[in-house]
Amino acid sequence: MALHDDIRSFTKKYKKNIETRTELNDKLFKICDQDKWLKTLKNRAVRCQKLYKDNEKLISGLNSKLCGELSDKAGEALFSSIFDVFFDRFEISDVPIIILLCRTAAEHFEKKKDYNRLVRIYAFLTYCNMEYYSRIRVEERDKTIEYAKKTISFKEHYAELDDPEARLRIFRTYANLMGNVLEEHTGLRDGDFSIYDEMMALWSSETVQKMDGNNSDIRNEVEWMKDNMVYVCARNLLDYRTVHSEEIRNSEIAFIKEKLEEHDKDIEKNTICWIADMTLKIINSEITPLDAIHKVIMKTDAIAKPDFEKLTPEENCDILDEKYMMMELSVAVLRKMDFTEKERTEYGRQITFRFFKDIHKIPNNLFTNYVDDICKEYFSMVRPFLNGVGEKEQKLMQIFFLRQPLTYIHCLLVGSLAYRLGSAIIEKNPEMLVGLGELDSIKDVISKENGILDFVRRAGLIHDVGEIIMPTIINMQTRSLTEDEKSFILKHPEIGVEYLKEDTDFEPYRDVILGHHKSYDGKSGYPAGFDNTASPYRVIIDIISICDALENAEDYISRAYKEPKSFDEIFREICEGAGTTYNPYIADMIKNDDALRKELRFIVTEGRIKATQEVYRNIVTCVQYGGSPYFRLNAVDMVNDG
Ligand SMILES: [Fe+2]
Ligand SMILES: [Fe+2]
Repeated sequence: MALHDDIRSFTKKYKKNIETRTELNDKLFKICDQDKWLKTLKNRAVRCQKLYKDNEKLISGLNSKLCGELSDKAGEALFSSIFDVFFDRFEISDVPIIILLCRTAAEHFEKKKDYNRLVRIYAFLTYCNMEYYSRIRVEERDKTIEYAKKTISFKEHYAELDDPEARLRIFRTYANLMGNVLEEHTGLRDGDFSIYDEMMALWSSETVQKMDGNNSDIRNEVEWMKDNMVYVCARNLLDYRTVHSEEIRNSEIAFIKEKLEEHDKDIEKNTICWIADMTLKIINSEITPLDAIHKVIMKTDAIAKPDFEKLTPEENCDILDEKYMMMELSVAVLRKMDFTEKERTEYGRQITFRFFKDIHKIPNNLFTNYVDDICKEYFSMVRPFLNGVGEKEQKLMQIFFLRQPLTYIHCLLVGSLAYRLGSAIIEKNPEMLVGLGELDSIKDVISKENGILDFVRRAGLIHDVGEIIMPTIINMQTRSLTEDEKSFILKHPEIGVEYLKEDTDFEPYRDVILGHHKSYDGKSGYPAGFDNTASPYRVIIDIISICDALENAEDYISRAYKEPKSFDEIFREICEGAGTTYNPYIADMIKNDDALRKELRFIVTEGRIKATQEVYRNIVTCVQYGGSPYFRLNAVDMVNDG
């Protein structure tokens, strides 16, 4: 087969597999009947295993053919593959494949000096890198900036660009470039204004005005950049994230004022202008704290509701963006202005409630990267307004269960296993816990049983918080992960700790989150830099590490890429690793206690089915009727039923 035919056939098959994967995942969110749902989930696991193998073959097949020169026909086939398969999908699901195709295509069109095509390809590379890789590796931001600059460099050939889409992409890439520079430096510096100025200079140049002065798409893009700058200035002025010099501050105020003068009449209609106007009032003390927060809440409520059945994804995304900006403003108002502690808690609750209402209605398959990000940031923002570790744990799980239901089920089961194992330890070997925290005697351990069990259960529930906040897409692939993706996953303990580090309520859980993939003897596992053997919480880490391994057993429903193992098989592995990988005393205790083993087995078999049904009953209710999830089932119930 000629190469261009190979490329076409790859595209057709790979596209079909992406569609199948999407269908299999979507189905889970539509079925109401629980038995049917369970069957669908099992079927999904089997089908995904097949897809996985098939994709592996397809990708390595294409990889082996794409080395060497491309014919013109092959170049064309590659270009249409990129834009037929991947470009029209709102979500970027297969970035490593796109990058492979784009790089090969770029090389081909460089030789041909086909600027139209090159702009499209580099703009797409910029976007993919920004949306995906920047999330998993900080260094990738430089790469994104590099791709963006490359895309923009084709402005030298603007007059030769006869594809309007290519011209539009140059302008859109400025926004991506600015976003990345901002991310990198978390503040608006002179350099960032210079990107904006550069784009404005291009826009007002004679060539562009002559060709595109009336092009409404490009005009909108320019307006959007302006709005974006205003928003960034407003956010910085409220010191939400940054501290910067008086000089920059003044230039930001001037920039905002200019925009407000232009839009004098429609400040009420334009959310960004409204935010900018409010920001100036706040920093000039022209409004009281109570007035400000009331106005912000009223304005938030006045924004249209997202409607995932009637509106387009883009329209919904705009609405969510507006809501998110208002949320960010509310939090800034609460932090920046002078409220009593009581007022701050009360209004904090009100805005938290508003956020939850919206977030749970977003279909699981829409804007995954975007929603993952706002969930992550939002939890960090509202955390100070939540009351104690119990409420924080609950909200954390509520935010993420819809994004990553399978990871959530895993955490629920680990919590449940840990709870059961913990109570057996208190009953049979309480001395193991002496020395933990303030527990200084066996009597102490026994009298504080409830507190200890609560701690162990929660440790299980949040041990993988780093995985829960990862881009959803990584956990849902039906292909093998790239080296970058793999090494990213290995960082989940550190990512989790980093995420919760400012919260003293989570401080006691730090070592468990960080150490649950270390071996008992500290000699293997990750992260290398953490010495679990020296941790005062060592025994809790050991409990969670054993429960984490046990949870893998008997999973015939949710693991799509691994053949499941039986409980006995996994338990045998634990016994074999006793003393090196796993705590030998705990392994022994389980080995010698038939009733305990039976209960642990129950949790991963029937408990798993119950937990899974419960999670999805919640999902269906949330997706169809809105509102926050209500968890009837918790780790403790599952044990008692056994
Ligand atoms: Fe983990
Ligand atoms: Fe885990």
